[in-house]
Amino acid sequence: MTQHPVQNLLITGGCGFIGSNFVRYWLTEHPHSRVVVYDKLTYAGRKENLADLWDDARLQLVVGDIGDQALVRGTCQQQSIDLIVNFAAETHVDQSILGPLVFTDTNVRGTHVLLEVARELGIRLHHISTDEVYGHIRDDHQSVEADALAPRSPYAASKAAADQLVQAYAITYNLPVTITRGANNVGPYQYPEKAVPLFSTNAILGEAIPIYGDGLQMRDYAHVYDHCTGIETVLLRGEIGEVYNVGTGREMTNLEMVDIVLASLGKSHDLIRHVTDRPGHDRRYSMNVDKLKTLGWQPKYDPKEAVAEAAKWYAEHRAWWEPIRSGAFREYYEKQYAERLAGTAQ
Ligand code: NAD
Ligand code: TYD
Repeated sequence: MTQHPVQNLLITGGCGFIGSNFVRYWLTEHPHSRVVVYDKLTYAGRKENLADLWDDARLQLVVGDIGDQALVRGTCQQQSIDLIVNFAAETHVDQSILGPLVFTDTNVRGTHVLLEVARELGIRLHHISTDEVYGHIRDDHQSVEADALAPRSPYAASKAAADQLVQAYAITYNLPVTITRGANNVGPYQYPEKAVPLFSTNAILGEAIPIYGDGLQMRDYAHVYDHCTGIETVLLRGEIGEVYNVGTGREMTNLEMVDIVLASLGKSHDLIRHVTDRPGHDRRYSMNVDKLKTLGWQPKYDPKEAVAEAAKWYAEHRAWWEPIRSGAFREYYEKQYAERLAGTAQ
């Protein structure tokens, strides 16, 4: 198996949830690497996610938009970047339903700009995609990498377009690219609009937990640590031009997930409220991860442990999420949930 040289990384979206976990993991495991985080610092991007690392001489921050071709090009040239890892994206399905255009700007056009810079400078690009590009998966199937993409939300459609642009550049320009498609991640520093941190922080505060519809939708809740090791495996040993699914390969319903959150926090089921469903809500995601395992990767966490550990992290890190929840988040929460929750009290 080839071992690719990876020395100077441009990590776009490195101040977000998965990106910040990946930067910390990478610098721990690869002490001789240098990392430039390139991030627009949107509502989801937080410098404090890497607070312990900004004094490290191996890490630098460039604040910018991935759609700014001159800044991306200049940064790659000045910093002698040999690999771009693209985590930067607008990432929440519900936000994509409320305001979809920014998803196209960042996820499609932004990724396209990174591809153009990678092509101009001859740099390898690794793109972080998602299981949502496969769309809703019927009960007797697990998505494999060769399956057709069938996205159903504005978020998923923008990620599918980006994923296909990356593949098109490999074919048309012979650009050295790799793609990983991750399952629903859970763990430290996830912005509390996503289900697991939202349910955990609501439960800690004694607030209602809004379950969309019947709660029988299925997701593969994977620990962000395993996503990081999966990406690392592909960066070092993945076949150039290939796509790899990263998840646990096992899914649970949202009601099972909330059971684990409540048990882990010692909170009551009385907090659960079934509210109006998300439009076009995908019932089930499920991926086969055997291809990544052929590179020697194995997940460390089972999905139940992943959810339980994540819930406990929020209980132990109120200082991280309390300022977020009292800021712009409140306005979004009202828009998304006030009407849904009205009249659902038990
Ligand atoms: P996140 O929303 O927590 O972070 C996104 C980061 O991208 C933030 O730091 C934000 O400031 C930055 N960003 C947004 N627009 C930008 C722009 N135009 N230019 C530069 N930076 C910009 O997201 P996440 O959950 O960490 O997801 C990271 C990546 O992983 C995304 O590509 C997402 O689609 C993918 N993914 C996420 C999951 C999940 O469960 N969270 C699962 C599979 C794949
Ligand atoms: P989410 O974390 O938004 O991830 P995704 O939609 O990308 O899978 O949601 C995970 C699951 O939880 C999904 O089936 C939608 C559901 N959900 C709720 O039931 N209530 C909520 O308030 C949220 C945010 C999500």
